[in-house]
Amino acid sequence: MADAVIQLERVQKAFRTPAGEIVPILDVDRFEVAAGEQVALEGHSGSGKTTLLNVIAGIMRPDAGSVVLDGVDLARLPEAARDRVRADRLGLVFQQFNLLPGFTAIENVLVAMAFSSVRPDRSRAEALLASVGLAHRLSHKPAALSVGEQQRVAVARALANRPRVILADEPTASVDPGHQQQVVDLLKQTCEQENVALVVVTHTPEVAEQFSRRVRIESFNRVLQQLAKPGSVAEGGDA
Ligand SMILES: Nc1ncnc2c1ncn2[C@@H]1O[C@H](COP(=O)(O)OP(=O)(O)OP(=O)(O)O)[C@@H](O)[C@H]1O
Ligand SMILES: [Mg+2]
Repeated sequence: MADAVIQLERVQKAFRTPAGEIVPILDVDRFEVAAGEQVALEGHSGSGKTTLLNVIAGIMRPDAGSVVLDGVDLARLPEAARDRVRADRLGLVFQQFNLLPGFTAIENVLVAMAFSSVRPDRSRAEALLASVGLAHRLSHKPAALSVGEQQRVAVARALANRPRVILADEPTASVDPGHQQQVVDLLKQTCEQENVALVVVTHTPEVAEQFSRRVRIESFNRVLQQLAKPGSVAEGGDA
């Protein structure tokens, strides 16, 4: 894919249990997302979706393989340079929103700009928060926001630095149905206008079906294909 902004090749990731057992989580021959492409990533709980996003973001180092983000091989960079690339080119919406507790809603958005190369732009921060229905909550700190409101701040923050790629881990999971579509609209519309690639992990079919590309992690993570083979542990062949 010539214009890919996310390129994974032969990526493997395993975790070690406290007992020392090695548990393979990811074995991905190839996964690519083009510039400006919008992808819904589905898959059952524990199938490695969050791990995959962490590997793409350079938060977790793969055990093997290469991860190229907007032309940059993150694993080859020293940590400071990796943080810089992430701050400039990536917007992240974590499953646990990771807002800064000492800062208000708008400050959380402005801080994301401050860490990147874009200049803090208060009117953009306000507009992003307003578009998810938080114009009246700009000065609230996370503890004074509902969980769904915190999640909406996290979505606005991810867009703050005009990234090339947004990775969003169940960005509507804590948002009530009335605001769910606002979050999806903000992500999809802003990414479309600004040619940002968007990968959204979701368990919500109403969200997933709004994406032209829907992929199940089981379709490209060979660890899960191994587990699904008849007679394997996961099938409980003789249980
Ligand atoms: N730090 C870790 N140490 C050991 N095992 C881990 C670690 N992080 C994740 N795992 C295991 O990796 C597997 C995949 O986890 P992951 O969080 O990627 O799943 P997920 O697809 O995001 O699930 P969910 O839909 O519930 O969020 C799980 O079985 C989990 O127990
Ligand atoms: Mg997860």
